[in-house]
Amino acid sequence: MKILMVCLGNICRSPLAEGILKVHLSKIPGEFHIDSAGTGAWHVGSPPDPRSIAAARKQGISISDQRARQLKSSDFEEFDLIFTMDESIHIDVKKLTSHPAYHAKIHLLRTYAGDTDSKVPDPYYESDEAFDNVYSLIDAACVKIASAIQNEQRKTTGKH
Ligand code: 4NP
Repeated sequence: MKILMVCLGNICRSPLAEGILKVHLSKIPGEFHIDSAGTGAWHVGSPPDPRSIAAARKQGISISDQRARQLKSSDFEEFDLIFTMDESIHIDVKKLTSHPAYHAKIHLLRTYAGDTDSKVPDPYYESDEAFDNVYSLIDAACVKIASAIQNEQRKTTGKH
């Protein structure tokens, strides 16, 4: 299963989402490919924001090897699920394809995880605490998503 995390710059939120989901899915049998991208090109080639790297490191996760890239049209074909970090990114991503099968792959991360609030707030102009908050919001969503994937796998393999 291939999952893509998408934010604006691919340096703050989606690198955290990529790193966090990778950790949760590593505990589940199966082949997963997790990646992240930004709708914008400003930071292409850059490592994650040092504040995201620090927020992840505090929780024992390394995301410093990631490099930012821009979302590309082939991503809609390649990935099974595409998670967006807020409504505005969600709208922008959906605008990039008119294909109904591709639209069906695109979900707001928090909404997909069952949260009533859909927003992972953009921490770029905020404090270090905002990055810890982003970490917590994404982690809570990824725990639920990993668990849902595991339940789905149990159903299809017949294992309990
Ligand atoms: P991200 O945060 O979308 O979570 O990576 C941002 C990073 C950079 C900018 C905006 C948001 N920017 O305007 O450069």
